[in-house]
Amino acid sequence: MNIHVPRLKPLAPSPAMLTGLAMQPVDALLALIAQFRDDPRPEKIDVGVGVYRDADGATPVLKCVKEAEFRLWSGQRTKAYIGTEGDAAFIRALAPIVLGDAHAPKRTWGIQTSGGAGALRLAAELLAKANPQATVWMGAPTWPNHAPIFRAAGLNVRKHPYFDAATRDVDFGAMMTALGGMTPGDVLLLHGCCHNPTGADLAPDQWQDVAELCLRQGVVPLVDLAYQGLGTGLEEDALGLHLLLRALPEVLVAYSCDKNFGVYRDRVGALWVQSARRADVEAVRSNLTALARSIWSMPPDHGAATVRIVLEDEALRTLWQEELTAMRERTASIRHELAKAHPLLAPLGRQNGMFALLPIAKEQVAMLRERHAIYMPDSGRINLAGLNETQLPEFIAAVLPCLQQEEGLAS
Ligand code: LMR
Repeated sequence: MNIHVPRLKPLAPSPAMLTGLAMQPVDALLALIAQFRDDPRPEKIDVGVGVYRDADGATPVLKCVKEAEFRLWSGQRTKAYIGTEGDAAFIRALAPIVLGDAHAPKRTWGIQTSGGAGALRLAAELLAKANPQATVWMGAPTWPNHAPIFRAAGLNVRKHPYFDAATRDVDFGAMMTALGGMTPGDVLLLHGCCHNPTGADLAPDQWQDVAELCLRQGVVPLVDLAYQGLGTGLEEDALGLHLLLRALPEVLVAYSCDKNFGVYRDRVGALWVQSARRADVEAVRSNLTALARSIWSMPPDHGAATVRIVLEDEALRTLWQEELTAMRERTASIRHELAKAHPLLAPLGRQNGMFALLPIAKEQVAMLRERHAIYMPDSGRINLAGLNETQLPEFIAAVLPCLQQEEGLAS
């Protein structure tokens, strides 16, 4: 049987939908990772991306993590879905480390997220739903991904002074003056510890002043805590957050385990919200789960399950604390060595964590990369954990003339 197929008249081509897309700027840090990887020079030094490295330049899987992964692999009988909220036992095991006894347990709820960036994005979406007019205030400089995350959720972003390049300390006076412009319903984004990119953290009395300011102005703080334990200690690094949780009715905490458990690519994070009233918790939970469902549906399980196994086992937990201490102490000793090498590097001694910002121009950054195979982003941020004792003399010899030249220009 012959089937008659009518011929379609040729149509004029419709304009293609994707032809109007504008190119986006290349992410400078990700480009730097690739550039470093492709550099054949054996003496190359990577102080770019913020991952911990040991004295051999490796980012090893922690022993506690390896053992927990083995237990997970041998005991896991299913990979069926867990749910939008993720692993509730992971949240239960992590909460005392992050929140201590500073929060109001009946007014606080936490959800597993896809890394710290996922926690920030989920927080941004929640805030945009609660108050689409909110302005999110963040210090200058900050992690380059902060502003894009909040803007992507439709929120306004405003920068306030944070770091004084001349003194290389927090410019607290200028920060507080600018924050006087916050209005009720705004959000103040704060780095819990180990400020990225400057390493300059708020002192306890400054956290207290910030808490009072937020209270006075009806502003909600959102604390990004991505390096707990890599500054001065687990408890010490959460001091500012704890102060805010005690002082304020509403606080959001975006947390990352990627650095302190070394599980970067597994994307392990959490978001906690302390609400003003017990009656608010159910709506917060309902909105966060609905938002998470529309973004990633369910967070990745493997890394969070691994962290949960570490935290639930006393021996593994002790091992984690020892390994975390070793990472912190090695990074701090590099910081100390640099700080005592020359007065122009001395400010590093007053700072915490993996990062410091060198006051050098981007032409100098390019020169260091081309001539000395030293890789850092254009901002002059260095990851101290990228260095070892053997590389220090060569690194200092390359960087010092740049600092001296900038110092000469500034004076
Ligand atoms: C960094 O600041 O180097 C890390 O947080 C990596 C990143 O995603 O930017």
